[in-house]
Amino acid sequence: SSAPHREAERGGGQQTLERVPLELSTTESWLDPFDWYAEMRENHPVRYDERRRVWDVFRYADAARILSDPMTFSSDPTRATELDLPEPEARGPLFETMLTSDGSRHDRLRGVVEESFRPRSLVPRAPHIRDVADDLLDDVVDRGEMDLIADFAYPLPVVVIAELLGVPTEDRPTFKRWSDTLVETPADTSEAGLEAFARERRRVDDELRAYFEAILDDRRTDPRDDLVSDIVHAESDGETLSHEEAVGFCILLLVAGNVTTTNLLGNAVRCLTAHPDAMARLAADPTLTTTAVEEVLRYRSPVQALVRVATRDVELAGADVHTGDAVVPWLGSANRDPAVFDAPDEFRIDRTPNSHLGFGRGTHYCLGAPLARLEARIALEQLFARVTDVERASTELDPVRSAFIYGVRSFPIRYRAH
Ligand code: HEM
Repeated sequence: SSAPHREAERGGGQQTLERVPLELSTTESWLDPFDWYAEMRENHPVRYDERRRVWDVFRYADAARILSDPMTFSSDPTRATELDLPEPEARGPLFETMLTSDGSRHDRLRGVVEESFRPRSLVPRAPHIRDVADDLLDDVVDRGEMDLIADFAYPLPVVVIAELLGVPTEDRPTFKRWSDTLVETPADTSEAGLEAFARERRRVDDELRAYFEAILDDRRTDPRDDLVSDIVHAESDGETLSHEEAVGFCILLLVAGNVTTTNLLGNAVRCLTAHPDAMARLAADPTLTTTAVEEVLRYRSPVQALVRVATRDVELAGADVHTGDAVVPWLGSANRDPAVFDAPDEFRIDRTPNSHLGFGRGTHYCLGAPLARLEARIALEQLFARVTDVERASTELDPVRSAFIYGVRSFPIRYRAH
């Protein structure tokens, strides 16, 4: 394909990374982007979107190659030459995290908390996670209906990550407002709308910073057995973490551990209500939960897209990508690629092998994957232990409006208590 038009008019400082491709701008297409992905994989596996000024990549092999080669495809968005990023002073602490770092800096940051997220470290937390799930279900089981998102899928992960970090779980409504603002795309794309959006984003950055600075201060004098204390400890040796990095760290863990897992649970129940046979099998045999969770991660991936920046001129499936170009591997499309998955559009709860890219791949492979898997397994086991005959209680679905997070904002269900 030919080189893009680099003279394309600039969009007045708006953050192009938050924009959704035009093809996904309708509710229907964002709820089910998979036909569009199929067409792109077939006919335009790598294409340049003039409007967003990014390369979109749809095939599994190309997405996997990008994620496996961090030297060529950097995670640092400030290396992009064609994107309208915020001015350096307006970037906020999330530009200073492991997610947006390469090489030794990335490894140094990730090393601070890596141990706490290993499956082995999480084992002792499982009974408590089960209690949290059960308490949430206690409140709604007898009602015969709930909003799966508001009543279960949102509070469970937010309580778990808040406890792990060591922040008060009562602040959970505020966490939701903060997280939503950080992942959502501007609804109003007029100049005034984008400006208001950027203002709100900066306000949330400031609030998050103030919130975590106070908690970091507290742990400096009163360390506890929590992640914020680990982060303070790494900051206080004067070498491992800067203060800015410590703040960004807390925010990343709060946001990354929360919206994603909520949507995994929502997407899981969406898949299962659409496949009643699979749901009945799972309810009858909870040992299938592990592979069922992997299949949801593949079939309706909570993270649909990532961003990288080319550090050199490179050819990608026939396209000439230049140094500084932003590249978007579509995980949600890679995960439906028939070159890798047998009958990719079938939802099979016992699919093995299942080498989906739902948690990414390579050096940035999701740090929280073991925690997300544990939470999802426990949540589904407890749900089906407590209720039966689960079905959708509304026909309309309202998608999460984000350029990378995929799920629904609410999911009313009906059921009978066991
Ligand atoms: C990274 C997905 C849950 C923390 C990632 C990446 C993906 C992902 C795709 C790779 C990003 C990239 O390569 O640029 C998910 C999904 C989740 C989930 C689908 C739930 C279903 C969690 C949880 C945490 C977490 C519970 C816990 C705090 C992180 C962190 C990174 C990351 C810190 C950055 C890792 C690095 O840069 O080395 N996640 N995630 N995630 N995730 Fe998750």
